[in-house]
Amino acid sequence: MSATVAVGRPHTRLEGADKVTGAARYAVEYPVRDVAYAQVVQSTVVRGVITAVHTDAALAVDGVLAVLHHGNAPRVAAGVDAELYRLQEPTVHYRGQIVAVVVAESSEAAREAARVVRLDYDEQPYRTELSAQDPELYQPAHINPSLPTDVVAGDVDAGFAAAEIQLDLLYRTPSYHNSPLEPHASTAQWHDGHLLVHDSDQGSASVRDILARLFELPPEAVRVVNTHVGGGFGGKQYCKVQTALAAMAARQVDRPVRLALTRQQMFGPVGYRTPTIQRVRLGADRDGRITTVVHDSVTQTSTVTEFAEQVAVYTRNMYAAANRRTTHRLARLDVPTPFWMRGPGHTPGSFALESALDELALACQVDPVELRLRNDTMIDPESGKPFTSRNLAACLHDGARRFGWADRNPTPRSEQGGRWLYGTGMAGSCYPARARPATASAAGYADGTFEVRINAADIGTGARTALWQVAADTLGVPSERVRIQVGDTALPRGELAGGSTGLASWSWAVVRACERLCDRLAELRGGVPAEGLLVEASTHEEVAAQATLPRYAYGAQFAEVRVDGETGEVRVRRLLGVFAVGRVVNPTTLRSQLIGGMTMGLSMALHEAGLFDVRYGTWANHDLASYHVSSNADVPAVEAYWVPDEDAQLNPVGVKGAGEIGIVGTAAAIANAVHHATGVRVRELPITVDKLLNT
Ligand code: MOS
Repeated sequence: MSATVAVGRPHTRLEGADKVTGAARYAVEYPVRDVAYAQVVQSTVVRGVITAVHTDAALAVDGVLAVLHHGNAPRVAAGVDAELYRLQEPTVHYRGQIVAVVVAESSEAAREAARVVRLDYDEQPYRTELSAQDPELYQPAHINPSLPTDVVAGDVDAGFAAAEIQLDLLYRTPSYHNSPLEPHASTAQWHDGHLLVHDSDQGSASVRDILARLFELPPEAVRVVNTHVGGGFGGKQYCKVQTALAAMAARQVDRPVRLALTRQQMFGPVGYRTPTIQRVRLGADRDGRITTVVHDSVTQTSTVTEFAEQVAVYTRNMYAAANRRTTHRLARLDVPTPFWMRGPGHTPGSFALESALDELALACQVDPVELRLRNDTMIDPESGKPFTSRNLAACLHDGARRFGWADRNPTPRSEQGGRWLYGTGMAGSCYPARARPATASAAGYADGTFEVRINAADIGTGARTALWQVAADTLGVPSERVRIQVGDTALPRGELAGGSTGLASWSWAVVRACERLCDRLAELRGGVPAEGLLVEASTHEEVAAQATLPRYAYGAQFAEVRVDGETGEVRVRRLLGVFAVGRVVNPTTLRSQLIGGMTMGLSMALHEAGLFDVRYGTWANHDLASYHVSSNADVPAVEAYWVPDEDAQLNPVGVKGAGEIGIVGTAAAIANAVHHATGVRVRELPITVDKLLNT
């Protein structure tokens, strides 16, 4: 690679001006001739069988073209994805399941008609309550993404019994709903047996593959475009139901169809983060060295497919302890299927473990930062292998220094001013650093410009900008001479924006393609042929050959809160995070990812909660008026910093991925700060006023 010019320098998003001027098109914004509009109808019963569909009133609405349901919808292949097997059978698996789709000349007509579709059901009994006492809890064969369900090392019973300090704590988190600005949305059109979809997703390659299987087409017959995506946070991984339904509806009416879920419809049928019940046991010596850690988690899945959130996995690798056990039990309930949400597993898991560590710090009278340093380890406790790079301690030291942690009085309720109680808290953070194979192409032109192409998904992260910077440096040319294209299955294949793998995976392929182009140009002694020169490179072999070693990004989160001693109102005054995320390609967009994650963690700590009513099998709150997401006035100065973090064994650019680590640990840092302010330990999120009233 030539001397770094672009990588490491701040740069605003290349598409920023297009986004703020409205020139950037999202999934249902492309001008499409003769387009029709679809609106979904959801089940009003929890479990049962549809016995009749009454469509007369809907079909009588002016402009309605069709009402699709299990009796008339185009058939799709079974066994691809049970959540996409909609309108194929009369079975209802959960309340809110999509049971019909209305297609009309306008979105207004579709919406009006959807209101008057009536279905009769043969209702059946159901179970919707998550309980750690549920006798039907079971042990799944694997947890996400395909990890062992239970891991045991040493003797946890003996270790816990022998420990000088013993803590046995129960934590709970509610269900959470992804709320990207752009809803789940798709425009589908069929031309001569080919399917073209403009889609809001986190990886169009996998969407294309799934659509091809669903409609029994060769993959080449399907093209999925996701040039701009208005956020996903995990909720738009793979092909989601609206994409499949838009394609079905377009086939049925033989016209292009747009289908955007409403905000209310996003609370259920596209997934949510499972509620969790977590029991954490810590055994330690008086100096706070953990000898035994047990993390048992209970979460839910649906009867449709199994989704097993890896809640206790955070505890497998984060801190040393000779005796350790992590387990996962699932309740299979008549509820919508849970799905990915930022920092899956690690986000709820770190709330429990990092809160428990705070409780341990108090029990041992050891400073919480020092406690984490004492339990730091350069050897992965799970695999016994050295971490490829572990800069947790650097994050803790740097964070404590920047935050002014040393001045802290450790005694809870030690700082008051009028009716306000002040407190500070902190937590550790980590997230796996992984990469997936990808292919990229690089083209050189006679006018001295270059174009790099890869089907990366830029879901608002700044991925295309970072890849453009990497390309310019690898080509050794000013970035103004480089163009980049992402977000289309017509481009060389890249996998999804998920699991914080995007930039690591795509930049690897971009580097290899640009290196190959440079080699070819060198052979031609710099002269680009008039028709240009195009090369392609894949990282499949390199990624497959990479040794399986423990690789993680790390962080330290610090929070300062004030709590109204009379009303229980909590205000976060300051959030500060220091992270070790490998090489920094673009400080502007990295910072944006980190403070975004931290803000989402703040939202989880204080505001977000799906209020599930077990009687009705659905959430009482299903819009942004009642499902509270932190807004500007809730968010204080959020500061994100990073420490040098070199990992030669990672990937050519040395990036670890930073989309998720910002949310991991944030809620615990805030809960710990609330305890420091008030002396009240909140073990069930969110931290609402009722839990702190008259403290
Ligand atoms: Mo992330 S929850 O893997 O998009």
